[in-house]
Amino acid sequence: MLILGIESSCDETAAAVVENGTRVLSSVVASQVEVHHAYGGVVPELASRKHIEAIVPVTSQALTEAHISLGELDALAVTRGPGLVGALLVGFSFGKACAFSLGIPWVGVNHLEGHVHSVFLEGDPPPFPFIALLVSGGHTGIYHVTAPMAVELMGQTRDDAAGEAFDKVSKMLDLGYPGGGMIDHIAKNGDPGAIRFPRSYLDRSGFDFSFSGIKTAVQRYIAKHRDDYQKRIGDIAAGFQEAVVEVLTDKAIEAASRKGCRHIALVGGVAANSRLREKLRQHAAEYSVKVHIPSHKFCGDNAAMIAAAGYHYLKAGIVAQLKDDAFSRAG
Ligand code: KG4
Ligand code: ZN
Repeated sequence: MLILGIESSCDETAAAVVENGTRVLSSVVASQVEVHHAYGGVVPELASRKHIEAIVPVTSQALTEAHISLGELDALAVTRGPGLVGALLVGFSFGKACAFSLGIPWVGVNHLEGHVHSVFLEGDPPPFPFIALLVSGGHTGIYHVTAPMAVELMGQTRDDAAGEAFDKVSKMLDLGYPGGGMIDHIAKNGDPGAIRFPRSYLDRSGFDFSFSGIKTAVQRYIAKHRDDYQKRIGDIAAGFQEAVVEVLTDKAIEAASRKGCRHIALVGGVAANSRLREKLRQHAAEYSVKVHIPSHKFCGDNAAMIAAAGYHYLKAGIVAQLKDDAFSRAG
């Protein structure tokens, strides 16, 4: 089944052609980073306008790169939510119109389920059941995945998402937006043990997260060392990153042990973080748990993961209706 995936939930306009939920024929992502950079974060109104400009060329490019004509598509899978509703509506309405005019089925996909399915796009997918640690700019959660459509939430952040904490700390250190990649880079020159920031485990036996405390701790450190913190940016970045990575790693491994899973999938934009990839792999190996991580291009927002998840919806007979609408919040 040839599926055209479309994603526009935040600041990436993306389209992809994927066969049978796993074989990626093309994956095109147009980033709006340059547009939002000057504002230090995503400006929703600008995001919607940029999606409108990009959606047709990005889709055409995905079809061209896949050597597929519109008439050869079997179905469309489009992100329905959660995300910025104005941004979502661009892709969702476009997908709806395409499917209607082509007379083929289409389905609205949950963005978070899309991220979970990003781990099936390459060579080493995990067998079921597995634990998915989803860490992105908008969400942070742990899921028990027993089948393609059976994704049970075990815990999630009660305040900031992990990526959001990275972005906010980057802004405090004047490293720019988006901050995850910058912190990752700068931290390589720092000592992760030099400045110890708090680890928030909340309830040790539960799987919820909280990242607002560590963000405030970094803010306090900067305020207290106003005159010379610039000299220690590497240590601050490394210390902050280490605290976030430690909590994420510990909770994911605890979840695997609780559910008796031997596999963990690390997905979402923050899954690109080099320290998180390394530490989760090392720590999991001590428990004989295998870690599966998509390559960088499938960690951040993309449409191949939406097509991959949509394939299973369609196989289960789930199709969208013309009256369906995008939604901004999960749950
Ligand atoms: O999944 P994603 O592209 O969008 C959402 O669904 O939110 O994730 C974007 C997030 C941003 O917060 C960005 O700073 C973070 O992923 N990120 C990273 C790294 N690369 C991107 N965080 C830490 N280390 C990285 N290398
Ligand atoms: Zn995302």
